[in-house]
Amino acid sequence: MAITLNNGFKMPVVGLGVWRMEGKDVRDLIINSIKLGYRHFDCAADYKNEAEVGEALSEAFKTGLVRREDLFITTKLWNSDHGHVLEACKDSLKKLQLEYLDLYLVHFPVAVKHTGVGQTGSPLDKDGVLDIDTTISLETTWHAMEDLVSKGLVRSIGISNYDIFLTRDCLAYSKVKPAVNQIETHPYFQRDCLVKFCQKHGICVTAHTPLGGAAANTEWFGTVSCLDDPVFKALAEKYKKTVAQIVLRWGIQRDTVVIPKTSKFERLKENFEVFDFELAKEDMDQIKAIDRKYRTNQPAKFWGIDLCQIHVVATLILIRLLASKLGADSGFKVHVEDEYEFDAPKMLKGNSETLDPVVVLIPSAPTNQFQWQSKHPSCLHYKTSLLWLCLARSCVLAPYSLE
Ligand SMILES: NC(=O)c1ccc[n+]([C@@H]2O[C@H](COP(=O)([O-])OP(=O)(O)OC[C@H]3O[C@@H](n4cnc5c(N)ncnc54)[C@H](OP(=O)(O)O)[C@@H]3O)[C@@H](O)[C@H]2O)c1
Repeated sequence: MAITLNNGFKMPVVGLGVWRMEGKDVRDLIINSIKLGYRHFDCAADYKNEAEVGEALSEAFKTGLVRREDLFITTKLWNSDHGHVLEACKDSLKKLQLEYLDLYLVHFPVAVKHTGVGQTGSPLDKDGVLDIDTTISLETTWHAMEDLVSKGLVRSIGISNYDIFLTRDCLAYSKVKPAVNQIETHPYFQRDCLVKFCQKHGICVTAHTPLGGAAANTEWFGTVSCLDDPVFKALAEKYKKTVAQIVLRWGIQRDTVVIPKTSKFERLKENFEVFDFELAKEDMDQIKAIDRKYRTNQPAKFWGIDLCQIHVVATLILIRLLASKLGADSGFKVHVEDEYEFDAPKMLKGNSETLDPVVVLIPSAPTNQFQWQSKHPSCLHYKTSLLWLCLARSCVLAPYSLE
């Protein structure tokens, strides 16, 4: 079963994610998964196992297990290579032993100091905060991605971990539209606004962390796994399936592509056996109701900076600024159309009783008018242009103006 992307290429709806897959296990897992029917593999330069994946794929082709044209291979541009897109892509192709990629994604919407092609560094400054490169815009990175398509090195290009504002912005500046946005989404982090926004604009959503990261994210980030939720236990019983199968099936039925990772052979099989049943509407609705708006993958742990929190801060500052310009009694109303992280109406209610969530802040691109906010105490800590990027790229105040 496959989803047709906006450029006509087909992407299998279940793939195998290879993050945190030990190099020594990769060969057997890839070969076995191909035997089970997997045709889609989700890799990344930053997973530091492209060479092992390449070895396994090469063996699969040589032995006639599968043909290159029957596989869908994704890999991703790391943050430290935004200024070296062509070289980074060629480096990944070499390691994967491939002539072309089916999909190349911008792994995160942030460029950091270059650490050498394919070295995938996440350098921190002396304060322990990610050393962000403010000289490369996401638009520049995207145009370099587009060049890869014209060069025939990649069939499709896409984005990853882009919120609704950055996605909207990418649609505005792109000549080649992103085919995919790969984001964390699972029953505890459903992000319906973002998913629907992407789908409405022809961008296929791939759900990374489709099992909520399960034991791995509990271990790494101390998060709660949706696989233990009683709702799923009951549904598993009802459908005579495992909890993981119910969760993956839910992902497929909301038209997202799922890329669960496992290092266990029996689970490879389990995670692929999701095509012989269908969740009834009332069960889809029941799962919809258990959303906790809960991110389980927390790169902030390593980066000393929480990209999502910055955006919340930015949004709140912006709303306060608007409120002060327009006057609390002007009947000013705000609704921020976005995924949960902002849940601005709720936050506003908690923070200012004078604001009532109704009007839409439409994201777009003013830039310099927010410079003053760098002095805001909430932002000083980050002292990077990331906040400005968020604001510059994301907030247009229609029909209001700050002038
Ligand atoms: N674009 C991005 O920034 C980004 C971020 C994160 C992930 N990803 C991609 O998404 C893929 C999946 O994400 P993820 O690995 O973080 O999370 P995940 O697939 O949601 O969960 C993986 C965890 O679930 C366990 N698991 C797998 N199948 C299971 C089953 N049937 N029953 C119970 N537990 C099961 C795995 O353990 P075992 O291995 O022991 O089975 C592992 O602990 C990654 O491999 C990567 O390709 C992308």
